[in-house]
Amino acid sequence: MGRISILSEELINKIAAGEVVERPASIVKELAENSLDAGARQIRIALSEGGCSRICVTDDGVGMSPADAQLAILRHATSKLRHLDDLFRIDTLGFRGEALPSIASVSRLTMTTSEPDSNAGFRLRVEGGEIVERAESAPIGGTSIEVEDLFYNVPARRKFMRRPQTELAQAQEAAVRLALAHPEVGFIVEHEGRVLLSCAPGSADPRERLALALGAEIYPHAIDVAERRLGVSVTGYIASPDFTLPNARGIYTFVNRRYVRDRGLNHAIQRAFRDVVPSGRQPVMALMIDVDPQAVDVNVHPQKLEVRFADSPSVYDAVFAALRRALLPGVESGDRPRPGPSYAHAVQQFLGRAQVAAWGGPLPLPGVESPAPGYDRPLPRSTAPRPPGYFSSLRYLGTAGKRFWICEGGDGFLVALDSHAALERVRRGALEKASARGSVLQRSLFSTTVKLKSDEIGLLECQSDVLKAVGLEVEAFGPGAVAIKSLPPELVGADCHRLLADIADEISHSQHLSGGQQLSAYDVLPILACHAAARADSLSAEQVQALMTELDRADFALKSLHDGIVALEVPLPHAP
Ligand SMILES: Nc1ncnc2c1ncn2[C@@H]1O[C@H](COP(=O)(O)OP(=O)(O)OP(=O)(O)O)[C@@H](O)[C@H]1O
Ligand SMILES: [Mg+2]
Repeated sequence: MGRISILSEELINKIAAGEVVERPASIVKELAENSLDAGARQIRIALSEGGCSRICVTDDGVGMSPADAQLAILRHATSKLRHLDDLFRIDTLGFRGEALPSIASVSRLTMTTSEPDSNAGFRLRVEGGEIVERAESAPIGGTSIEVEDLFYNVPARRKFMRRPQTELAQAQEAAVRLALAHPEVGFIVEHEGRVLLSCAPGSADPRERLALALGAEIYPHAIDVAERRLGVSVTGYIASPDFTLPNARGIYTFVNRRYVRDRGLNHAIQRAFRDVVPSGRQPVMALMIDVDPQAVDVNVHPQKLEVRFADSPSVYDAVFAALRRALLPGVESGDRPRPGPSYAHAVQQFLGRAQVAAWGGPLPLPGVESPAPGYDRPLPRSTAPRPPGYFSSLRYLGTAGKRFWICEGGDGFLVALDSHAALERVRRGALEKASARGSVLQRSLFSTTVKLKSDEIGLLECQSDVLKAVGLEVEAFGPGAVAIKSLPPELVGADCHRLLADIADEISHSQHLSGGQQLSAYDVLPILACHAAARADSLSAEQVQALMTELDRADFALKSLHDGIVALEVPLPHAP
C-alpha cells in the first residue's frame, strides 16, 4: 500500500483547529464574535474550570433555521461572504466559516437556536465533529452554544492548556476586548456560577467599559480622543500620563471594532507618548480606529489579530495626531510625523541612485518634468496582482545603488526592483514550504554559538517549540550564549546574532501586546525571510534573472516585513 493518502476531513479540521482554537479564550472570542455578527444585544458567557470543561455562550441574536444550524458546523460554511469581492469590504467579525467546525471537531458541542418569529427551536449535538443528535427544542429567541470537554479527543493539544486560573484570565480578557469595542451590547461573564463581569448594553457613560478593562481607578484620568482626517477616524480614551503601567497590557487598539495588534500603530503610540511617559512605563488607552472596510485587509492572520492597511502612513499619522491633540490640547504638535514614502519620493530616490553598473557608465535617466496628478500620493502596499509572467519578462541590466535592480520592462519602461523586498518574498515562500514539510533541519552540518543577553536567551527558550517548528533549534550554551543546532538552509550564512536578537525582540513585543499569547510560525517566518534576504546585493546577474522566475510564483499575500512596493516602473523618454 502507498504511503501517501489524502487527509480525512476530520483531520484537516483538527489541524485548522490548532490555528483557530488554541485555548478556551479563543473559543470565547469566536463564539461571542458570532453573537455580535448575529446582532445580539446581550451576550452571556458561562465557564467552568477556566473554560476547559465547559464554555457556554448565549445570545439574543437572529438565530438560525434548523437547516442553517446544520450547515454552520461544516467547514467553509458562512453567511458572511458570498463573492471574492466581499473579501475586500468585510464588515463582520467572522468571514471564514471555520470557527464552528474547528471548535466542534475538538470538543462536544451542543447548539440550541431559534429564529425570532419561530415557535420552535432546534438542538444539534456534535461530538468530535460528528453529529450525534438533532432534535426540536423550545424556542430560545437567539442562539446558545455549549462547548464541553475541550480537546477531549486531542490529548496533545490538551497538554498545552495551562492552569484553569490562567485560562480563565485569558478568557475574561477576550470578553473584555469585545466589550470595549461594543458598548451597545451587554456582556455577562460567569465562572462556576459566579458573575465576574457584567455590563449593561449602551450605558450612558462610555468610560464604564474602560473601567472594566483597567479598573475603576482609571475614571478620573480618562481623556477623550476624537480625531477625523482623510477617511480615518480615531476615537476612544487615553489615561493621562500620570496613570501608566509597567507593561503594554493597558494598550487596546481596535480597527473597525476588531481588537488588533499592529507594530505601526504601536510605534505611533510610543512616539506620541515618548516625552510624557516616564521611561520604563507604558501608557494606557482604548483606541478605536475606523476606516472604510475597503481600505483594510482583515484576512491576514490566523486569529485575525492583525490587519493590513491600504494606506498605513495616513492611519499612523491620524493616530499620532489624535493622541498628541488629546495629550496637549491647543498645542499643534511641532514634531510632525514624517510622511510615508510617496511616488515622488520613490522616483527621486531611484533617479538619484541610477548608476547602472552593467551599462558601464551613468545612465541618462529622465527627470520627471510634468508630474501627473497623484505623483505625490503615498505608495500603495503592493499586493496588487501583476500579470502572469511579469517578473520573468524583465531583463536584468544592472544594479543601482546597493538596493535596486534595474531591468528593462516592456513598452518603454525601466523597472527598478527593490532587491531586498524581492528576495525576501521568494525566501518567505521557500521557508513556509520547508516548515510545512518539516524538512528544514540541517543537523550537524554546522554548529554555531552566538552570544546573547540572558533575557534574550530566556525569551528564545520559552518559544523553543515554535522555533523548532520553523527549523531553528537553539540551546543554552553556558552563560550568555546559545548554540544553534539546526537552521533552515535558506539561513546558512546569515548573521545569526542579529537574527536571534530580532526574534527575541519580536517575542517580547508580542508578549506585551497579546497578554502572553503564544507566538506562532506566522510571526517568526517573516523575520527569518528578512534575514535570509540580507545578501540580495551580492547575487550575480544569472542569479537575479533566475530569481525573477521564482518571483512570478511567489505568494504576495504572505506576510513579510518589507511588503512595500517591490517594483517601480519608470517610463523612458521617447527618442527624439
Ligand atoms: N450565534 C449565532 N447566531 C446566528 N448565527 C450564527 C451564530 N453563530 C454562527 N452562526 C452562523 O454560522 C455560520 C458559521 O459560523 P463560523 O463562526 O463557523 O463562521 P463565520 O463566523 O462565518 O466565519 P469565521 O470562521 O471567520 O468566524 C456563520 O456565518 C453564521 O451564519
Ligand atoms: Mg465566526
